[in-house]
Amino acid sequence: MEMGICYGGIPSRVHNNSMGIRGYDYVEFYVGSAKHVASWHAKAMGLDFVAYSGPETGDRNKISFLMASPVQPSFKILISSSITPDNYDIQSFTQKHGDGVKRWTVEVDDVNHTFAKAIKNGAVPILEPYKISDDDGFIEQASIKLYDSCEINFINYDNYKGLFRPGFEKPRQEWVVSREETNLKGIDHIVGNVNINEMDYWSSYINSALDFETFIHFGPGDISTQYSSLVSKVVRSKDDVIKNPINEPYEGIKISQIEEYIKEYRGSGIQHIAILTTDIIDTVTNLRKNGVEFLATPPQAYYDNIASQEFGLEEDIKKLQENGILIDVEGKGYLLQIFTKPIGDRPTFFYEIIQRRKGASGFGQGNFQALFEAIEVEQGLRGNLDRD
Ligand code: FE2
Repeated sequence: MEMGICYGGIPSRVHNNSMGIRGYDYVEFYVGSAKHVASWHAKAMGLDFVAYSGPETGDRNKISFLMASPVQPSFKILISSSITPDNYDIQSFTQKHGDGVKRWTVEVDDVNHTFAKAIKNGAVPILEPYKISDDDGFIEQASIKLYDSCEINFINYDNYKGLFRPGFEKPRQEWVVSREETNLKGIDHIVGNVNINEMDYWSSYINSALDFETFIHFGPGDISTQYSSLVSKVVRSKDDVIKNPINEPYEGIKISQIEEYIKEYRGSGIQHIAILTTDIIDTVTNLRKNGVEFLATPPQAYYDNIASQEFGLEEDIKKLQENGILIDVEGKGYLLQIFTKPIGDRPTFFYEIIQRRKGASGFGQGNFQALFEAIEVEQGLRGNLDRD
């Protein structure tokens, strides 16, 4: 770790939303063994160990590792596990859901203001605004409910000069990780899967609580195979800094992959996080070398179809195909995307790698369809496609 980097806070930017949201901050996973999951993120995803909390720093109930991108320290994930049977918060989560995302965090100008406004607009409170302090100052945070066991955290580090937040120190171990660098740049969007008839509830909840708007709506028949289907709404902050698609299973003759997620996860929760890169061919080549597994590459016909279109593709289509990267044309721009296999034991959470080209801002209906088909193949291999 370079001296002087502070992992609290994101680069200042002029935001334009009524909630004072500056952008995504960290995402926290609750897992069975933080050290193992963090090591995978170091070796495979190319993130650095940058901060640690545990018994040595005064927390006798849990272990947390903060991981961050070496090229963009504001892209960070926190990985936590319980080390005693008494940590009900983490124990109950992992027992029910397996490893998964507990909370995503947005940095805000004023935690009290954002929280008060969210509650007034119908958000369910989890934690009222509070301060945590140490010799380096204090942070403020608060949280509201999301889905079955998730939270959205509001956080502010303006009065904190330490490494990350009180209770965290530099990692105690010198980690030597052999890997290819992946150049991950930040969170593009975070996707939730919800139960039948819950999509409208949760999209309205987020839109109202955070003064977001519905950006895209995929209705019945937009994303489907001969067997199954889903519907989806994308909600976003009005300045497009935060984007959150919400998927709901839709009736089909076999089990929708969203239903499979909900069954395996035991509830609604976060399905995937999309991570931005500015060179997807390089990033995916190196992620593959590091051992990250991706969904199957689309057939030749998919790339032949792309090659036949005139839209100013600047990448070498052979390299995109070699890496299994999806291309979706959108207006004058285009999206390049790829999806990993589920990273844990259950077929639940996975990552997406995304590069937006020439101003593309959407989600790629064509790629959404390709993703849906690719997951359904895996779902069939797991024996989770047919109804009992
Ligand atoms: Fe996505």
